[in-house]
Amino acid sequence: MSSREEYKTESYYQIWIRSFKDGNGDGIGDLYGVYEKLPYVKSLGVDGIWFSPVYPSPNADFGYDISDYKNIHPDYGDLDQFKKVLEKAHELGLKVIMDLVVNHTSDEHPWFIESRKGKDNPYSDYYIWRDRPNNWDSLFEGKAWEYDNKRGQYYLHLFAKKQPDLNMDNPKVREEVKSILRFWLDMGVDGFREDVINFISKREGLPDGFPFLPAAKGMSHYKDGPHIHEYMAEFRKVCDEYGCFQIGEGPMTSVGTALKYLSGDTKSLDMMFSFDHMMADCLYTEYIHRPFDLIKLKKAFTRWQNALNGKAWNTLYLENHDHPRIISRYGDGRYFSPKRKIPKYWKESGKMLAASYIFQQGTPFIYQGQEIGMTNIRLSSIDDYVDVSSKTNYHTYHLKDTVEERLHRIHISSRDSARTPVQWDDSAHAGFSTVTPWFYVNQNYDVVNVRAEEDDPDSILNFYRKCLALRKKSRTLIYGQYREYFPRDRHIYMYSRTMGDVMYLIICSFARHRVHVKFPKDLKGMKKKLILCNYPENEPKDINGHFRPYEARVYRMKKS
Ligand code: GLC
Ligand code: CA
Repeated sequence: MSSREEYKTESYYQIWIRSFKDGNGDGIGDLYGVYEKLPYVKSLGVDGIWFSPVYPSPNADFGYDISDYKNIHPDYGDLDQFKKVLEKAHELGLKVIMDLVVNHTSDEHPWFIESRKGKDNPYSDYYIWRDRPNNWDSLFEGKAWEYDNKRGQYYLHLFAKKQPDLNMDNPKVREEVKSILRFWLDMGVDGFREDVINFISKREGLPDGFPFLPAAKGMSHYKDGPHIHEYMAEFRKVCDEYGCFQIGEGPMTSVGTALKYLSGDTKSLDMMFSFDHMMADCLYTEYIHRPFDLIKLKKAFTRWQNALNGKAWNTLYLENHDHPRIISRYGDGRYFSPKRKIPKYWKESGKMLAASYIFQQGTPFIYQGQEIGMTNIRLSSIDDYVDVSSKTNYHTYHLKDTVEERLHRIHISSRDSARTPVQWDDSAHAGFSTVTPWFYVNQNYDVVNVRAEEDDPDSILNFYRKCLALRKKSRTLIYGQYREYFPRDRHIYMYSRTMGDVMYLIICSFARHRVHVKFPKDLKGMKKKLILCNYPENEPKDINGHFRPYEARVYRMKKS
């Protein structure tokens, strides 16, 4: 294995800095807080950190609208403090990967400020300007075109209005991207997560999108666009010079398309974040939000596991800064009751969800707060939410619904639920800050917090540690062949990982009641040893093939 394939054995922790830990007492998470908590991150058993954007940004999209690619947002510290964090992380054996957001910049980026000035400006062609807009929709705010008075033209923004799309067909823009890569690589970072990277090449002439497709008209003209692999190859070349690795975010990408980025002649990425398994409750198709469907989830998992096997490498994740808390979506938080501060089977379902994905083939990612089982927040008015896409959804998609119904959807789907301050202990503001934080703290912090879970050997936190440690020391759990059993079962997700004589069998119940579990016929007669379970060891284990609510077990199997 070459050193650049180390990522296959590794796991990562995602930090969305604004809500991670406030180190200087202004209510906003920062690099001082990160520095302080690096030993904690290390203690989870992960091998590195992915930083969501830490760069200067007006925060129209909380960091994903960048106004300076080669600096640190003053709220979070400065370049010196970043270097300290990087050095300390490396000392601890943690890699650091940065977010590369180059589909668009902030409208407050100097390039855009220049570009607006006119057609003879040196930055004129850094963005996509037109006299007349086409019919494309933006993904965040209405139509994809905004008129600019100064320039007297429309600019394209696939996301918010304050996120104008860069013109990647301009070689100068691609040189800028390479220069950004080099800037951070020269400093010593280990890789990049590349934001909506499959959107950077737009079809020439920007033709109208098909009118009969419901959401995001025009997407087929910029998703995996005509020059994408050429541009990706240019970026790959720079990364290769440094031996760093690249993970692409691939919204709406099919496995077939993903393989073009991940293998063969056009290979430009080491891994890709796919979205398929995030559709198990149709969160992205807001019109038709449906209850969570385990069969859908399993299908998505298995599709990617099988398609990439032996050809490419998966990322494994359930939460990030765009996806609300998993216990609230796929765990017991689905059965919300205003009488309960935390779901009845909060702990059990939180731990089960960890086992459901960490043991698949791929590199696991854990999002801050996921490891302690943080849950969605339920604010009482849309005005309390800050995420641009939540606001748009509330004010457009659901106009037919009552206020209560619309708010209900926001409670299930808002990205803000992933962005509440991390709950460190049960002191004021959950130990996140000494002053009132920039955003609401989930009121369950007296139960759901790092300190309490450190002290409890059966906590969700300690279960994550066990899972990561188990994976780390088993070649079978890292490289082994994946196989799913009983794909039509509505409650049980069962899969195995096999390598040579060694097999692990992972069984996860997604039911909040007891269910009977069949044992696969062809595994009968094998010796099995229970090595991990999400219920405390001293509780009696039901030997009749019944699983308790949200029970998860990992067996090591051997031919007898
Ligand atoms: C990606 C990011 C998301 C951001 C969007 C636009 O999907 O993960 O947070 O809003 O791109 O940059
Ligand atoms: Ca701060």
